Amino acid sequence: MIDTEILTADEAGLKRAAELLKKGGIVAMPTETVYGLAGNALDPHAAERIYCAKGRPSDNPLIVHLSDATQAVEYVKVIPETAKRIFSTFSPGPVTVVLPKKEIIPKATSGGLDTVGLRIPADKRARRLISLCGFPLAAPSANLSGSPSPTSANHVISDLFGAVDGIIDGGECGVGVESTVLSVDDDNNITILRPGFITAEDLREVSSPEKIHLAKGITERIGEEEKVLSPGMKYKHYAPKADIAIIDTNKAGFEQYISAHGNEKAYALCFGDENINIPMITLGVTSEEQAHNLFNALRRLDEVNAERVFARMPDKKGVGLAVYNRLLRAAGFEVIKP
Ligand code: TXA
Ligand code: MG
Repeated sequence: MIDTEILTADEAGLKRAAELLKKGGIVAMPTETVYGLAGNALDPHAAERIYCAKGRPSDNPLIVHLSDATQAVEYVKVIPETAKRIFSTFSPGPVTVVLPKKEIIPKATSGGLDTVGLRIPADKRARRLISLCGFPLAAPSANLSGSPSPTSANHVISDLFGAVDGIIDGGECGVGVESTVLSVDDDNNITILRPGFITAEDLREVSSPEKIHLAKGITERIGEEEKVLSPGMKYKHYAPKADIAIIDTNKAGFEQYISAHGNEKAYALCFGDENINIPMITLGVTSEEQAHNLFNALRRLDEVNAERVFARMPDKKGVGLAVYNRLLRAAGFEVIKP
């Protein structure tokens, strides 16, 4: 057990966090998406400590967080025109751009890959922390590997207290799902590896639609032996103990399904406008609300010892694709079409 310091998200707390990080420590920090478990991205030992604390497979690369997009040139070999436009349009913000890495980023940070994902968080406190450190921060989501990403300091405390040097309590995260991860190749093709708050539709602002692609695995299961573009996609994720199924139908169909199949052990994970008679946890009606509430709802299902959960099918447009992508993994890809 490590003595974990709970830190305030003000200048004093950030200064203490920077001290811990400068000594090679690992500290959970708030971002606008989810909490990240930060360490010096240029120090392989810090990266190893992050993997160890999370119980994360060491081939799953860490995102490198910068305080300003102009620093990107120090860490990647090339920045294609479209990547520059993504940074200038959507950063600071919930987007991670994967590019060929320079030597300075150790393989321990990049999970053995020759590329690195760069992100400039919108949360000012995260950027202030990076500035105080004077080095970029590698930070995966600050949850135990396999459990839902943390959107409040309490989530981090319940997963990582005693395993990390510090946890900055910055309240609830605004976005609630992790950043959009995308790669940009030499021909300026964008491939979305993980959907997030910055959507394929948003990206049309910086690219033409035929140059924007969705990686395989976002909405379907990837086979054991298949090559994945983003290692995180092959791992089971966000799984509460409850057995979740997505019910692929509209509101009326969902209500009917629940009245036929709901029993005393069942929970509904729904939008809140349904008329049903089993206990429910609601995500909200808009995709943005659903994104904000999803991970907390998945954790709540464990707290109430839900065994079987029937979930509404999210709208797959816009931010809804990120909600669907995460929920599908939480459900172990179980989708029931009544
Ligand atoms: O919003 C976020 O992205 C949060 C906050 C803390 O910034 N971070 C986060 O990190 O979600 P993590 O490690 O939980 O998820 C990063 C995802 C993984 O699926 C990983 O495989 C993928 O991004 N990724 C990172 N670097 C990559 C690379 N070089 N190539 C392909 N995929 C990469
Ligand atoms: Mg994660």
